[in-house]
Amino acid sequence: MKILAIETSCDETAAAVVEDGVKVLSSSMATSRKLHEKTGGVVPEVAARKQVESIVPVIEEALDEAKLKDKDIDAVAVTVGPGLIGSLIVGVEAAKSLALAWNVPLIPVNHLVGHIYANFIQTKRAKKELKQNNVGAEVGSEIEFPVIALVVSGGHTDLVLMRGHGDLEYLGGTLDDAAGEAFDKTARLLGIADYLGGSELSAKAALCDKSTHSFELPRPKINDDDFDFSFSGLKTAVKRVVENENHPTEVVAHEFETAVVDVLVKKTIKAAKKHGARMILLGGGVAANKPLRSRMKNAAGRLGIKVGIPSIELCTDNAIYIASAAFFNKNLKPIDEVVADPSLGITD
Ligand code: KG4
Ligand code: ZN
Repeated sequence: MKILAIETSCDETAAAVVEDGVKVLSSSMATSRKLHEKTGGVVPEVAARKQVESIVPVIEEALDEAKLKDKDIDAVAVTVGPGLIGSLIVGVEAAKSLALAWNVPLIPVNHLVGHIYANFIQTKRAKKELKQNNVGAEVGSEIEFPVIALVVSGGHTDLVLMRGHGDLEYLGGTLDDAAGEAFDKTARLLGIADYLGGSELSAKAALCDKSTHSFELPRPKINDDDFDFSFSGLKTAVKRVVENENHPTEVVAHEFETAVVDVLVKKTIKAAKKHGARMILLGGGVAANKPLRSRMKNAAGRLGIKVGIPSIELCTDNAIYIASAAFFNKNLKPIDEVVADPSLGITD
């Protein structure tokens, strides 16, 4: 089954054709990131206008690259939320029009669930990454349930128990800032990047000489019984350190990253033990973080739990995983009932 998927939840316009949920036939993307770098954050109106400009060329490119004619597409999938309403509407309406014109089913997809399905994709690059670093996507379509999924993105930090496809239970999530948001705000505070500084902060942290590490940040909620997170206090603690103490930027970046990763790994492992998980799956932009990838793998490995981590290119937003989530869930709806919903949670 060949699915054309469309993803427009924020500042990326993406389309992809994926066969049977795992085989990528094409992937195309435009981003308005450069415009948001100038303003130090996404201006929703600007992002939506760029979606309108990019949507048709991006879809055309995905179809061309897959060397398919429209009659070869078996279904259209689209991200319906969460995200920015103006951006979502562009993708949803384009998807509806195509499904109507081609007379094929339309499959609505929750963006956060989509992030988890990045683990189901087997690309050559993912396999190469696995060989080189031993921390890439190792599982492809061989997912063993029950699964504990940690979705860590710019807007969300969710721990989810997955008993099967479409059988999700929300265990906990952030009470304030998402992990990615904390990375971004801290990167800005440290003067590392003005917009989306997670990977830049991590690169800076990697330069830290650990022997000069002379202070500790808090690990919020690390020993609490629940599966919730809180990262806004950590960012405030960094602010205080920067204002009152004199540490090299890479040392502060390293301690911040270690604190976030400590909490994410400990709580995910606790959830996996409690629910007898056979696998842990990571998803979302922060799953591109190298210390998170390797430490989760090591901690789970000690307990005999497998870890699925998407290749780095599949952690951040794209349409490939939207197609995969659509294939494995086939949540079909009449076309006129598919609407953009910016406030969806992961289990909606
Ligand atoms: O999933 P995503 O592409 O967009 C959302 O759905 O939010 O995630 C973007 C987030 C940003 O906060 C970005 O700074 C963060 O993922 N991120 C990272 C890394 N790469 C991207 N955070 C930490 N370490 C990284 N290597
Ligand atoms: Zn995302």
